[in-house]
Amino acid sequence: MYRIAVLPGDGIGAEIVPEAVKALQAIGEKYGHRFDFQEGLVGGTAIDAVGKPLPDETLKLCQESQAVLLGAIGGPKWEDLAVELRPEVGALLPLRKHLGLYANLRPAFLFPDLVEASTLKPEVIRDIDILVVRELTGGLYFGEKSRKQSEEGEIAVDVCTYSDMEIERICRLAFEIARKRRKHLTSVDKANVIETSRLWREVVSRLAAEYPDVELTHMYVDNCAMQLIRHPRQFDVIVTENLFGDILTDEASMLTGSIGMLPSASLGGAVGLYEPSHGSAPDIAGQKKANPLATILSAAMMLEYSFNLVEEAREIEDAVRLVLSEGYRTPDIFEEGRIQVNTQQMGDLVARKIRERGK
Ligand code: IPM
Ligand code: MG
Repeated sequence: MYRIAVLPGDGIGAEIVPEAVKALQAIGEKYGHRFDFQEGLVGGTAIDAVGKPLPDETLKLCQESQAVLLGAIGGPKWEDLAVELRPEVGALLPLRKHLGLYANLRPAFLFPDLVEASTLKPEVIRDIDILVVRELTGGLYFGEKSRKQSEEGEIAVDVCTYSDMEIERICRLAFEIARKRRKHLTSVDKANVIETSRLWREVVSRLAAEYPDVELTHMYVDNCAMQLIRHPRQFDVIVTENLFGDILTDEASMLTGSIGMLPSASLGGAVGLYEPSHGSAPDIAGQKKANPLATILSAAMMLEYSFNLVEEAREIEDAVRLVLSEGYRTPDIFEEGRIQVNTQQMGDLVARKIRERGK
């Protein structure tokens, strides 16, 4: 039996998470696994219910589970709250920190049937298969923040800190992953200007000696942003610090057709956390328009990384691929001549595909 904490969160979170649960249930039935789903409150929804974005019971639930399935957090309703109460800073970041999730894996993989759905030209994005390894518990996000008045006016300060230990553990993981893929690692930094980036580059270069079979390239983040849309096939595994990873993964999502296609796994502690890379999309919340595939694919990553159920993970991915090749599309990836479906219909199609296919 596998214990899974389910945190739908805010906005479209409540619509997409149940669709990933359906896929896991279908896998459970087919392979004889029992998944025990326990729901918890998080984000703005938790603020409304109990006055805190990350209630103690929710944190405890996560710590006592084997994996966490998260929807999305935040929305305009809670944007004006004090910063530590806001869903992002008050729930998502502490959750990552408390669970020790320093490594965020975001695979930008293009399902061939979606090659026309991207805003980029098919010949540019064809066959891309990139894995971004984003450092998740350091850097600017977790540094000291302050405001002060000076003679020139108001000053805001965000401190960016990285230790060699923090850099080494994330880069080691990236080297290990690259070793199992196409053996090419791009380390992204801004070492021409930023001190933490210079330490980053030193540590990665040192580590490279232990991985002679992996080809290491250093790239400045501004150049990487450009290369990702100029020639994305040059990338295999990308490793980078927290803020750069946040920005580059939104960019990389467009290579896959939609940010609604980009799953993620956050690892490093005893409990892994799985969530789509997109946000709570308040503009379309409650309208059944959201694409549940990033969340469903995140559930596949859970099977692989937390439970080591690799065949079952591939089964979910194959079901998604088949449903897409039959022409079903949520609005974000819809094109003329395809069949438009809503959030639940997409989830049902994937779950049914899992059930009806032979093992
Ligand atoms: C993400 C999100 C979060 C982040 C926000 C909601 C704090 O953008 O997971 O990429 O910046 O890490
Ligand atoms: Mg982001």
